[in-house]
Amino acid sequence: MRAVTIRDGQIVVAEHPDPEPQDGQLLVRVRAAGLNGADMMQLAGRYPPPAGVPADIPGLELAGEVVACGRRAERFEVGDRVMGIVAGGGQAELAVIHERTAMPVPEELDWTAAGGVPEVFTTAHDALFTQAGLTVGERLLVHGAAGGVGMAAVQLGVMAGARVTATVRDDHAREQIGALGVQALEPQGFAECGPFDVILELVGAPNLAENLQALAIGGRICVIGVGAGATTEIDLRALMGKRARIHGSTLRARSLEEKAITARLVEKMVLPGFASGDLSVPVAATFPLEEAPQAYERFRAGKKLGKVVLEMPA
Ligand SMILES: NC(=O)c1ccc[n+]([C@@H]2O[C@H](COP(=O)([O-])OP(=O)(O)OC[C@H]3O[C@@H](n4cnc5c(N)ncnc54)[C@H](OP(=O)(O)O)[C@@H]3O)[C@@H](O)[C@H]2O)c1
Repeated sequence: MRAVTIRDGQIVVAEHPDPEPQDGQLLVRVRAAGLNGADMMQLAGRYPPPAGVPADIPGLELAGEVVACGRRAERFEVGDRVMGIVAGGGQAELAVIHERTAMPVPEELDWTAAGGVPEVFTTAHDALFTQAGLTVGERLLVHGAAGGVGMAAVQLGVMAGARVTATVRDDHAREQIGALGVQALEPQGFAECGPFDVILELVGAPNLAENLQALAIGGRICVIGVGAGATTEIDLRALMGKRARIHGSTLRARSLEEKAITARLVEKMVLPGFASGDLSVPVAATFPLEEAPQAYERFRAGKKLGKVVLEMPA
């Protein structure tokens, strides 16, 4: 099979042996695979994949058809359309995924859209609802809202009945997010528009002190992305005074059990939103597998609304 391959710090497309499904795994003919910030970090040598995952084939999410089932894999059959999160190896013509982290592709989603769902909608759902306990009527602030996770979080917040504010630094992307009916702000001076019950931090440390100012009593800050910086100084008196919580999370390092729980929650709480029309998958750009280097360049260039997705040959 051919796969996106990290070779000497560069992205190339190269031949690899076909993977074989182990117990509980599905072998999937990948039709689409989204790019994520973690792929960029892995390429830069700053995010090595966990043991047992191909070190040179990136890709944390995929959508495709089941072509074989490993022993004791019973949730899906050959020919089923599945999508899900993998710990690596997703950007390939063939990939394996554990059946418990795989989800059915809703019929409303084409392959391209499905390839951009798993990582960002799972991350956003887990952060907002499982970790931060966002509820109806609360005020949600999403920083870095034009990216894949941000667009998912904005839509999930609206669907759940939260009052959503988004910070977006690109003018054009800000206008488009405002058109979704949410308050869309430049990042500068966002605290004036608070207080917020939940702040989803997708940009990083430079926002943290102002996040504390902008937080409602009992508010929660969920740190998911630190692209703009990971260290900062905060006044702990502000944290105490707000009776606030700051917490962080990653998905990739979780156990199979924990990942399976996130997948079941997404199946139940998120996927119906595609059928009802509450959710969509904004796709900023698509590239065929052969143009993987250009896809990575497009992701790194920023100023995109939503996902960059690789499309595999049928
Ligand atoms: N912890 C986890 O489990 C987990 C899971 C998924 C993603 N993440 C992380 O979460 C972050 C968001 O992921 P994503 O997939 O949404 O990435 P993305 O599609 O690249 O979006 C990032 C967004 O943040 C904005 N941004 C970046 N730097 C900024 C800055 N200095 N000031 C203001 N805005 C800035 C970008 O704006 P521009 O377009 O203008 O650059 C973009 O809209 C990434 O850091 C990613 O690595 C973490």
